[in-house]
Amino acid sequence: MNGGDIRVEGLTKRFGKVHALRGVDLEVRAGTVLGLLGPNGAGKTTIVRILSTLERPDSGRALVGGHDVVREPHMVRQAIAVVGQYATVDKGVSGRENLYVVARLLGLRPRAARARSAELLELFGLGAVAGRAAGGYSGGQRRRLDLAASLIGRPGILYLDEPSTGLDPHSRKELWDLIRGLTDDGMTLLLTTQHMEEAEALAGDVVVVDRGRVVAAGTPKELRSRIGGQMLHVRTAATADLEAARTALRAAGLAPAGDGEDGVLRMPLTRDGDLTAALKALAGGDIVVTGFETRTPSLDEAFLALTSVPGDQEDP
Ligand SMILES: Nc1ncnc2c1ncn2[C@@H]1O[C@H](COP(=O)(O)OP(=O)(O)OP(=O)(O)O)[C@@H](O)[C@H]1O
Ligand SMILES: [Mg+2]
Repeated sequence: MNGGDIRVEGLTKRFGKVHALRGVDLEVRAGTVLGLLGPNGAGKTTIVRILSTLERPDSGRALVGGHDVVREPHMVRQAIAVVGQYATVDKGVSGRENLYVVARLLGLRPRAARARSAELLELFGLGAVAGRAAGGYSGGQRRRLDLAASLIGRPGILYLDEPSTGLDPHSRKELWDLIRGLTDDGMTLLLTTQHMEEAEALAGDVVVVDRGRVVAAGTPKELRSRIGGQMLHVRTAATADLEAARTALRAAGLAPAGDGEDGVLRMPLTRDGDLTAALKALAGGDIVVTGFETRTPSLDEAFLALTSVPGDQEDP
């Protein structure tokens, strides 16, 4: 099941006043995994929907396996399979029945459809629950069933839109192993995620999108090193102080990252004088600081530093 490549150039898409995509370029080489990383509303699902021919771009071009998504949608649909952000299994029937129906829809004869379903149920560790109604499956089992259904037609190109959302760490690791198995077979994979850790676990290359634009691209390692060696963590006694700290750091020309929700303000230390400047800025304000430390950034912090606070995308 060797897949073709995906080439996207200058893709734009507007929904009313919302610029969902503002000129996205990306490439997934045949047989590789690209992680499309971005926060809520970045435009990930919109890209997946355009590449699935479910949505038309306003401008720009997208070729999937050499076929233009606008001019040759039927060819594109034959080359791909999609696992959407939300599970699409039929809850009323068993896992086995779910796969069988998909196989029949794809034109397999009854015997072949049964065999393919059984093979995938086994591969995805669903053998024991195959006869139970899918509505009673755990989140992880449902995700695996979804993935199994997408593979029935042996697609060369697969899109996975946030495959591990809602899964516990154990189920997530299981799913990752299954996904890695697919790419060993030469499938081309486009995977969206909100987590740098997931991108690093699965993807050789990562494109970070934010508010409809590509803000960074490279290997996970390159992205991590780009934001420098250390993160500064600042804690304050009161939430108001956290905001005051953010304002003071900004006023000093520093760039505190978006997320302060857990009571910690994070900031990448990119230049030599940054730490001293931060100390001065905080000491200058009337701010009660209860914690001040430098740390090696986690992957998710690297991601936060690259993207903005989720906010509105409307242009005036
Ligand atoms: N059909 C639509 N009608 C109106 N606005 C839309 C539509 N589809 C997407 N949008 C808007 O376009 C922007 C990008 O949405 P998209 O679903 O592509 O983001 P995402 O990166 O997949 O986010 P999430 O991580 O939350 O799934 C958002 O502001 C969203 O509200
Ligand atoms: Mg989405």
